[in-house]
Amino acid sequence: MSDKQLTIALSKGRILNDTLPLLEKAGITLLEDPEKSRKLVLPTSRDDVRILLVRASDVPTYVQYGGADVGVAGRDVLMEFGSYDLYEPLDLRIARCRLMVAGQPGANERPGRLRVATKFVNIARSYFATQGRQVDVIKLYGSMELAPLVGMADLIVDLVDTGNTLRANGLVPLEHIADISARLIVNKAAMKTKHRAVRALIDTLEQAVSARAR
Ligand code: ATP
Ligand code: PRP
Repeated sequence: MSDKQLTIALSKGRILNDTLPLLEKAGITLLEDPEKSRKLVLPTSRDDVRILLVRASDVPTYVQYGGADVGVAGRDVLMEFGSYDLYEPLDLRIARCRLMVAGQPGANERPGRLRVATKFVNIARSYFATQGRQVDVIKLYGSMELAPLVGMADLIVDLVDTGNTLRANGLVPLEHIADISARLIVNKAAMKTKHRAVRALIDTLEQAVSARAR
């Protein structure tokens, strides 16, 4: 990684789409359409800034290990992996949703040990353990809503925004675990070695976020 260039890790989809307008305020725009390009390293309008495209759940790993100086990751991803050694200086207030327990109506009141399907296994285990509720957690990688429909699980732990996905599958939100939004994260070494550039980016993004909130 060049010590002059700032490398930003983002994931394709809503994180990239919602972060680009904020980066524009710092004069950072993409030089090619990420939907059309197969490139994973994208140059930007600023010679000193490049963007890496990685899986949403890999963003903290790239930032912690210095593959990127900064990144944007959902609070769900940060909570699930728990012990990242990095800074989290700013709530970008984008990609907002809620982490919920969901299922068929009343499913959380069924007697006995309940089965919970989720990709957030650590969050689910700790949420139910904190409440003294014994559950079996089944790891899935997506389409969690299917598990209660086919009788594989009583409950799911998943992200909910409009509630449309739950409704379309006959499920309802049952318990709120956490409010989620995307966070700016920073590599600890980069915060020192590239302090000026990182600080300038944080300040500009902070202004862009508060201008939006007004
Ligand atoms: P991966 O590719 O690693 O499996 P993913 O498919 O979950 O990740 P996205 O769907 O792009 O990736 O979600 C990225 C982030 O956006 C999530 O970590 C979460 O913080 C947020 N998010 C997910 N779903 C929604 C939603 N429906 N509304 C708003 N924000 C959401
Ligand atoms: C997320 C999440 C839910 C859905 C909730 O999936 O896993 O399925 O959004 O949003 P809603 O309440 O507005 O329906 P996403 O759309 O990101 O698809 P994914 O399975 O590719 O992550």
